[in-house]
Amino acid sequence: MIFHIITIFPEVIECYAKFGVIGRALQKGIASLKVHNLRDFTSDKHKKVDDYPYGGGSGMVMQVEPFYNAVKHIKETENESRIILLSPQGRIFNEKLAVEFFEKKEPLVLICGRYEGIDERVKAFVDEEISIGDYVLSGGELASLVIIDTIVRLMPGALGDELSAKEDSFMKGCLDYPHYTRPDEFDGMKVPSILLSGDHKRVALWRKKEALRATLQKRPDLLKDLSSEDMKILKELCSEINEKILEGRYEPVNH
Ligand code: ADE
Repeated sequence: MIFHIITIFPEVIECYAKFGVIGRALQKGIASLKVHNLRDFTSDKHKKVDDYPYGGGSGMVMQVEPFYNAVKHIKETENESRIILLSPQGRIFNEKLAVEFFEKKEPLVLICGRYEGIDERVKAFVDEEISIGDYVLSGGELASLVIIDTIVRLMPGALGDELSAKEDSFMKGCLDYPHYTRPDEFDGMKVPSILLSGDHKRVALWRKKEALRATLQKRPDLLKDLSSEDMKILKELCSEINEKILEGRYEPVNH
């Protein structure tokens, strides 16, 4: 799958994309990334890409023409691409949307504006606006990396350890289970003994239960479309919690 990013900070993207999951996926050729410097698409001799806002006011507004030229240039080689403007006004990005993009395999063109403002007419050649959350970033660069990272993680071979991908889907829809590594005791805090038992079946069941426990306590809204096995575990968890409440031992999770 191919990702294009249009930005005035190509170095930021290129630097981040050298490392970790994205870096490995690019090296293996599982994904490809093309970073386009918006300044290469302006006709201004000083490579300026913004100007004063019509109607007055503070700050500068990014001009429509460089974006138009950049998208046109990309479309010359990518016929079926999806043009996305990163914006706090967009549809909220989540795992489900990441899976949708991954399954469609369409090349994604991610347009990064700076939040001071972008000429409204850019939206005329954008397929959709996407936000990564209800807060305002200074620009779309971080948001585009979030989107690429989330999609690349879904690609077979991207996580290196194939088991992690399998576990990811095994735990689909749930929060993650708790992880531990050496030492087996730190400052009086012990690793749950079941993880030291070597009994893979019991470990897998424990992880599933703890993932469901975390989800029930922190994000019950995510508990949808559960398998009958998960429902059984959830019922057990609910009666454990009920028991604790009745005995005054329940400690709610605050976050
Ligand atoms: N640009 C500025 N804020 C953003 C956000 N929350 N999501 C995506 N792009 C943005």
